Amino acid sequence: MKRLAAGNWKMNGSSASMAEVQALLGQHPNPSCEMLLCPPATLVAQMAWAAKSSALLVGGQDCHANASGAHTGDVSAAMLKDAGASHVILGHSERRADHHETNLLVNQKTISAWSAGLCAIVCVGETEAERDAGVTLSLISDQLAGSIPDGATSENLVIAYEPVWAIGTGRTPTLVQIGEVHDHIRAQLTARFGSNAAEMRLLYGGSVKPSNAAEIFAVPNVDGALVGGASLKAADFGAIVAALSI
Ligand code: 13P
Repeated sequence: MKRLAAGNWKMNGSSASMAEVQALLGQHPNPSCEMLLCPPATLVAQMAWAAKSSALLVGGQDCHANASGAHTGDVSAAMLKDAGASHVILGHSERRADHHETNLLVNQKTISAWSAGLCAIVCVGETEAERDAGVTLSLISDQLAGSIPDGATSENLVIAYEPVWAIGTGRTPTLVQIGEVHDHIRAQLTARFGSNAAEMRLLYGGSVKPSNAAEIFAVPNVDGALVGGASLKAADFGAIVAALSI
């Protein structure tokens, strides 16, 4: 399995940010892990153009469940594909919170992503209150069961475990806690998808930075990271890619 360093730029970035892409490509012309950046929809085509003939993959941060139609402001999976994307992040906790996205909607969006030929990065993770209540593993089981359609393979699905309380806070779970959840996700996927699940990439996300990346990547069943803030600067994201390439 090739591990995956994925960056989620969220609602950040402009044309000027392409300088960071060039700097990243200068650092890692051929990394031994996969390298993906998911800029806002306005920059997907531009970034894909900048990344042409390089090892950098480009993805979207969301797509509509429908292929086309009267959905003002939305972007379809086919449009992302047409713009040069290979992946799309779905069910990020910020979308689940800001846009009331349910597991069922994430499931429908994943089907749409697959129809367009995109690999879906489906996000799961508990809030702090849910962790304190001791329901983390059962909640994640529910999110996986509800958000992932039948037909998942290691080619069309990546899972990102992102504890909501670790996103943008500088706080991370202990390595034992990360390992416990990733082992649980692998077991759930294996029960449903069989031996295929061994090759599915499970990313950890939430305050990953150059200083903690290596120890997180050493946790069994952690196959990469989904990085927010630290993916905006080539120096930081490049250091995370380097930690995964060892
Ligand atoms: P931070 O790395 O900024 O905590 O964000 C994580 C995240 O939400 C990536 O999708």
